[in-house]
Amino acid sequence: MDMILVLDFGTSHAQTVARFVRSENVYSEVLPYDTPIDKIAAIGPKGLILAGGLPHMADAMPDGGIYALGVPILAFDQGMRAMIKHFGGNWGEPVLEDTIAPTEFMDNPLFEEVSGGERWFKSASHIGTPPGFATIATANGVGVAIANMSRNLYALQFYPESNDPDGLRMLYNFSRNICQSKPSWNMDAFIEIAVRDIQNKVGDGKALLAMSGGVDSAVCAALMHKAIGKQLYCFFVDTGLMRKNEGDEVERAFSTDMGLNFVRVDARERFLGRLRGVTDPEEKRRIIGEEFIRVFEDEAKKLGQLDFLVQGTIYPDIIESYGIGGSLIKSHHNVGGLPEHIGFKDIIEPLAQLFKDEVREVGETLGMTDDIVYRQPFPGPGLSVRVIGEVTEEKLCILRNADAIFREEIKRENLHRKIWQYFVVLTDMRSTGIADHARSYEHCVVLRAVHSINAMTASAARLPYDLLARVVERITTEVEGVNRVLYDITSKPPATIEFE
Ligand code: XMP
Repeated sequence: MDMILVLDFGTSHAQTVARFVRSENVYSEVLPYDTPIDKIAAIGPKGLILAGGLPHMADAMPDGGIYALGVPILAFDQGMRAMIKHFGGNWGEPVLEDTIAPTEFMDNPLFEEVSGGERWFKSASHIGTPPGFATIATANGVGVAIANMSRNLYALQFYPESNDPDGLRMLYNFSRNICQSKPSWNMDAFIEIAVRDIQNKVGDGKALLAMSGGVDSAVCAALMHKAIGKQLYCFFVDTGLMRKNEGDEVERAFSTDMGLNFVRVDARERFLGRLRGVTDPEEKRRIIGEEFIRVFEDEAKKLGQLDFLVQGTIYPDIIESYGIGGSLIKSHHNVGGLPEHIGFKDIIEPLAQLFKDEVREVGETLGMTDDIVYRQPFPGPGLSVRVIGEVTEEKLCILRNADAIFREEIKRENLHRKIWQYFVVLTDMRSTGIADHARSYEHCVVLRAVHSINAMTASAARLPYDLLARVVERITTEVEGVNRVLYDITSKPPATIEFE
């Protein structure tokens, strides 16, 4: 299948570009910017995109062999700098910074059906254009795009996919027209390729899936089941950190309805025991990740030789774990925190290149029910990261009850499919209140409801005031131990979706 390979110079830009190329039905994958040329040549991409760029990577260069592959290359950011440097040009100080400027596009295949007009520039500099290159777009007299048409090389000082009204058209022009990729990528194709890869890898071995009940692991389970049927064993570890009634619902959906090899493991005491006294969120994640694997190992032993551990990791988990900008933001249990000794031959992560909306599409294509596919995302460490500070059964019980009320009311308003994630957080703050004509000093919970497309950014949902009022009324009267309810309207960034 024709593919566009994106070489990643850091930030989430590379994956976003790959995702948009895929949305033009051309397969696209991301590899690190310094991937050796032999590996790139073996993949045989129809074109390359160089994307992303972190301040400390100003000297990063891809393998120079990419320019001899003879395939079209589109470069942004650090990729553009590297291209200019490679061909003997130079790069001046920024002249357009966080500015909107009228932009003119020359006649060029990259700009077919792209109209001129105002564009936003985060940072554009005067360029000493390398020999063989010509300016193909200008803004306020600054060359903001250059190309070497005889070698099919293009470089842009703006981000078409994020702040250009015709941006997607440029990615279409590049991937479909300039690279002449056939539009053969869709979810059926993804499933076919994934199933083949899984079958090749697993052979007649057995695989164990870490099932959390969330969309990712559910879709992963269905995909694995399609590939290897009863060679797949699904353990649903009941950590005690699930939402109200969730364990039973998951068991019903996967064991009864889908007919998977499904084992529900009651590990509530193990998890709570290990979390006793732990307040640091990253420590909680590490412990939970480690305990998950230990539980699997213990249970796996009972089933005899199990060769592969399957995880529903999706792309945003990976970037957030390894950090946008090279620093850790949050480690997600299914990426970070694995103990050294795993006891499996290998790990399989069939959804690792996909964003959430793509994962949902895979689920729908596999015929999964809306209830599962549109289940709101739920973090691997479960309610432990929604109880701020130490996790105890008493606090979990308060949180489960408050959360169930919030979810019930959101559903009653028919907003459950319209909001990305909505949940309650139990803070470590107590507040003064009044109950039965006496002073009370009880827990304070926070309602959080956010809109998002891929969890990378989010904005607070503007819930109807009456709905909020009803939820507050119900929680403070029905849930013992809570006397104050707050509503968080912070976006991501600067906050994250979860509190911890
Ligand atoms: P944040 O809070 O980082 O969340 O904005 C982004 C998305 O990821 C989920 N999340 C997690 N998922 N393990 C997971 O599997 C984790 O440790 C974790 N932390 C956050 C969060 O619910 C949201 O959908």
